[in-house]
Amino acid sequence: MDWERSYQNNEIPWEKGQPAPPLVEYLEKNKISGHVLVPGCGTGHDVRLLASRGCHTHGIDISSTAIDLAHQYPKPEFGTATYRLVDFLASDNNLPTRHYDFVVEHTCFCAIQPSQRSAYIKAVHRSLKPGGYLLAILFTHLEEPGGPPYSTTPAEIETYFTPMFTIEQYWRPTRFHEGRDNEESMYLMKRRDLSKH
Ligand SMILES: C[S@@+](CC[C@H](N)C(=O)[O-])C[C@H]1O[C@@H](n2cnc3c(N)ncnc32)[C@H](O)[C@@H]1O
Repeated sequence: MDWERSYQNNEIPWEKGQPAPPLVEYLEKNKISGHVLVPGCGTGHDVRLLASRGCHTHGIDISSTAIDLAHQYPKPEFGTATYRLVDFLASDNNLPTRHYDFVVEHTCFCAIQPSQRSAYIKAVHRSLKPGGYLLAILFTHLEEPGGPPYSTTPAEIETYFTPMFTIEQYWRPTRFHEGRDNEESMYLMKRRDLSKH
């Protein structure tokens, strides 16, 4: 998938012009604070939503056009929203390690090849502070085979993530982008400290 070409050609059906409804719903009842990383942020709607709640939010994307578009939005009044061109999966990408309080995932995990999932999970672990959290909105109930978006199952998520994370909460959100009804699940996972093992 050539993400940069999709943005250049304006072939971006995932771009909804607003933050992810499951994240909006979560933030109505729960607080996220501190330094937050949003991998595969696209044009940055989730980044700005989190900043508006007071977070210091850093959005990264592999497409320079997406990052340019993100920079064109007004800065949020609270918190901070910054954007940078970064390949999240590259181990030498100069992202700070053990730095973020939260990683907020929405439509990046489903965008990468299933063979890259292990690199993704290592990248989340590397980015988070000890005791940090991954809040993930994942496609778990898509009918179509193949991708992107690549669906996954709750059983696969447990297999992939539990070596490095403890799943503290799992639930089904009730708000979705149009056309994505009941396709997503949410997970709150705590980074495990692997140095103790
Ligand atoms: C389906 S889009 C979702 C974008 C945004 N989260 C949204 O909901 O509008 C997936 C995004 O992940 C980005 N992406 C794919 N692979 C990436 C990688 N290795 N590192 C960083 N971003 C990546 C793509 O450029 C694209 O913007």
